Amino acid sequence: MGRVQPRIAFDPTPSKLKSIARKNSNSKTSDERLNDRRIIVGLTGGIACYKIANVVSALAQAGAEVTVAMTHGATQFIAPLTFQALSGRPVYTSQWEHIESSDPQHINLARSADLMLIAPCTMDMLAKLAQGRADDVVSLIASAVDLKRQPTLVAPSMNEVMWKQRSTQRNLEQLEKDGFEIIPPGVGWQACRTEGVGRLAEPQDILAAVKAALSKRH
Ligand SMILES: Cc1cc2nc3c(=O)[nH]c(=O)nc-3n(C[C@H](O)[C@H](O)[C@H](O)COP(=O)(O)O)c2cc1C
Repeated sequence: MGRVQPRIAFDPTPSKLKSIARKNSNSKTSDERLNDRRIIVGLTGGIACYKIANVVSALAQAGAEVTVAMTHGATQFIAPLTFQALSGRPVYTSQWEHIESSDPQHINLARSADLMLIAPCTMDMLAKLAQGRADDVVSLIASAVDLKRQPTLVAPSMNEVMWKQRSTQRNLEQLEKDGFEIIPPGVGWQACRTEGVGRLAEPQDILAAVKAALSKRH
């Protein structure tokens, strides 16, 4: 039997490689820059945590200074090291461990942020934020953000039944009244192997929402 030929031949000639590199760098220059914008990304314990790696990478590529905070739940789904590497910054996983300052770090972080994004946001975190609880590093930082001045975006992600619970809908209503911006979830395949509403908004839609919120305020 003869060797199976690959269907698409890879052409590694220098001119071909150069044109691929040019294409990649061009696609970035047309993007809106976020130079020196300080963005806090809070992750909570949902299966969609892995999708936020793309969001953090894109924000960093756009020039933003991204600080990632993760609940204990979030660290069960993706390693903090991934976000440390993508953001080039320390990752906050505990409210008790002071990383960059000896002052209350949640206040410093919140005060200096241009925007906070909580994604994926669990049903549990929606409830906490709606009640004003602050007993983990993500909700603690969020508690010190001034919602009138600093856009705070929440991207919920959960199974359809969880999404449709009256408690979830009640909490979402409360968060909107309080000044949080909700990035609505999508409809489609869910990790529980069903189709429905509740899956995390697509990373490009989350990025667009972040850029829109920043441009509205400045
Ligand atoms: C495998 C697995 C997947 C989960 N996925 C989600 C999810 O997508 N959305 C959600 O709201 N909760 C999900 N949960 C439940 C949360 O992890 C749980 O409520 C946790 O306490 C949330 O903590 P946190 O909000 O402090 O991160 C999942 C749990 C497990 C075990």
